[in-house]
Amino acid sequence: MITLDELYEKLKPIRVGNPICEFTREHCERIWPTIERIRELKKEKNAIILAHNYVEPEVLYGVADYSGDSYGLSKKAKASDADVIVFAAVRFMVETAKILNPEKTVLDPNPNGGCSLADGIMPADVKKLRKQYPDHTFVCYINTTAEVKALCDVCVTSSNVYRIVEAIDNDRIYFLPDKLMAQNVIEHCRRNGIDKTINYWDGTCYVHEEYQPEAVDFVRKANPGVDVLVHPECAPGVVQKADFVGSTTNMLDHVRGSDADTFFLLTECGLTGVLQSEFPQKKFVGSCTMCRYMKANSLTDVLGVLENPQPHQIITLTPEVRQGALRCVEAMFEYTEQPTSK
Ligand code: 13P
Ligand code: SF4
Repeated sequence: MITLDELYEKLKPIRVGNPICEFTREHCERIWPTIERIRELKKEKNAIILAHNYVEPEVLYGVADYSGDSYGLSKKAKASDADVIVFAAVRFMVETAKILNPEKTVLDPNPNGGCSLADGIMPADVKKLRKQYPDHTFVCYINTTAEVKALCDVCVTSSNVYRIVEAIDNDRIYFLPDKLMAQNVIEHCRRNGIDKTINYWDGTCYVHEEYQPEAVDFVRKANPGVDVLVHPECAPGVVQKADFVGSTTNMLDHVRGSDADTFFLLTECGLTGVLQSEFPQKKFVGSCTMCRYMKANSLTDVLGVLENPQPHQIITLTPEVRQGALRCVEAMFEYTEQPTSK
């Protein structure tokens, strides 16, 4: 368990945000009683806390048992033997934990846990599309509600999307809701000689769609040797300029194994904070874009949901939605864990 001194050492190197946040020793002392109370409640209730790589560093380093990307955290949720799972992220990730753990209490601390992708497609849209594209395999990004997952065939995350689309035994795919990720998949298939027709929905992540290819040119010119890491929710023009493309945890692993000393990350800047903390000797350049949904999780919200969860914070799913969504998520695990032919 982290001590106050260790927490300060972890938070001290982080310089992200606008204005730039600085974690002082006094700040750590101020939040420490909340952290201690959360720990007591965790023990009392046999709870674990999962936190996505983008959430506030106080939550990530102060109270989370596990942090990671959406795939890794789904696996942690699946393997957990806690009675209560508190998931600091956005609603669709918390719902995925419930899909995998119907008998557990799954709690969402976030007062604003939407996501521009998950909110951009409704079950009625999918029902209509299935009639329009009856011979297509419906692939949904994990950034969808449980109701939408229940209407699709297989779910993907940023860490397995290319692999799963390649492995699907159908040359007609409908991909939803992220149009930029779909375009990246199309480009990936084209480059690898994979012949599939991929139709897609018109959703975007409001954070990642902002990045422009020119930003990569500009940063490369100013920082020779910079390692450019891009999330596949970015536009194809940006992805094509990357040295590495992957999920947030894939990026973290890439930095760990890279010889470069300067990095440009085109993703939500919470991840930059994590990397500054983990690799204080490396340099991270470029702008800082925040996801307002992920950043809505505070330590106080985590405390509140453990102390006295409100009905809307306790995830419930109808058996029909849960069964359908489970089939879709389990299909993802099967594809991801099967050995690749290459
Ligand atoms: P990761 O699964 O790569 O962490 O991405 C989740 C997400 O919402 C990115 O915007
Ligand atoms: Fe959704 Fe984009 Fe925020 Fe990720 S960064 S949770 S895709 S809005």
